[in-house]
Amino acid sequence: MRGRRKKWAVPYLEEHPETVLTELDASLPFFASDKLYLEVGIGKGDFIIGLSAKQPGHYLGIEREENVLAMAARKVVEGSHEDIRLLSGDFDEYLEDLGALRFDAIYLNFSDPWPKKKHWKRRLTVANRLKAMAELLKPGAKIIVKTDNVGLYEFTLEQIPLAGLVCEYETADYQFDEERDAMSEYERRFRDLGQPIHRIIIRKEGE
Ligand SMILES: C[S@@+](CC[C@H](N)C(=O)[O-])C[C@H]1O[C@@H](n2cnc3c(N)ncnc32)[C@H](O)[C@@H]1O
Repeated sequence: MRGRRKKWAVPYLEEHPETVLTELDASLPFFASDKLYLEVGIGKGDFIIGLSAKQPGHYLGIEREENVLAMAARKVVEGSHEDIRLLSGDFDEYLEDLGALRFDAIYLNFSDPWPKKKHWKRRLTVANRLKAMAELLKPGAKIIVKTDNVGLYEFTLEQIPLAGLVCEYETADYQFDEERDAMSEYERRFRDLGQPIHRIIIRKEGE
């Protein structure tokens, strides 16, 4: 998807188990942080690193493409970002272990749009996956979605009530005017092209 495999990627991930966890052990002191945040599909890590500088807490990032995860890991290691841990693999495969944790927010930035209808069930914002994410949230916590893709934006808005959740806020033209926000690689790329960014904040009903 992202071009040729980088030879250094897998060895680099393996050489940094302090940053790139080999399994999700919820009993690690790292996860005892008062504030805990999750980003699914971190890409090259610009968002998680940028946000951690603005919003104190501990951050967990999951990414299934080893090439880009290694690029993110290198930034985390070289920048000595002790408040970030990374996991290699698909969100779904960690769901059970994630169940032992409760997050203050879950971030989905420019998730793969899977445009063909037969692939919509793979979208991170399909109702059953949103519902599973909501189980990982503390009371009052949010799932925050950004995308350039109109199809994914509209689909997500439809899925929110199906998951028993509430759309607290949505805009088709987000101005990057929230203090506690950071720009991912994809957001920067789309903004440079002058494309509108869509943003949705999702919360659990009654919280
Ligand atoms: C389009 S890229 C956006 C990357 C980054 N969030 C950004 O905004 O620059 C989507 C990323 O999410 C990752 N991804 C998609 N589905 C995932 C899943 N189920 N679990 C983990 N990573 C996933 C992909 O490998 C890819 O790197």
